[in-house]
Amino acid sequence: MKSFVAWNDALSIGIEDIDDQHKGLIALINDVWKALMSHAAAQNIESIVLDLDDYTCTHFKEEEALQERYGYPGLEAHKESHAFFIGKVKELDARIAAGEIIGLELLEFLSDWLTYHISIVDRQYADFIRSHEG
Ligand SMILES: [Fe+2]
Repeated sequence: MKSFVAWNDALSIGIEDIDDQHKGLIALINDVWKALMSHAAAQNIESIVLDLDDYTCTHFKEEEALQERYGYPGLEAHKESHAFFIGKVKELDARIAAGEIIGLELLEFLSDWLTYHISIVDRQYADFIRSHEG
């Protein structure tokens, strides 16, 4: 089965640890997609969505801690943006838990949001950190 969203080098923000975590997020979104496409049982889909939720929370906390360490001025806005995404992942979880048949719109939204966020919003803090690394 092919994938729903693919990593490509244009998504690299030049911080290896963070790139690896972004690859992990993309892999989990693909896992959710595969589970939806193969009509897996709701509880199996939900367990992958919960993994995505966990992984996302951990990853976002790391990004925010990194930005804080460098005194990044965009931290508060970045945190709000992260909170919005987490809310959407939780919405997906709640809809699956409620027994709703899930189409691909919300997953499409998550992957579009994520690839935009990585390539524009995350790149801004990565550039800031690089220019302050002396
Ligand atoms: Fe971010």
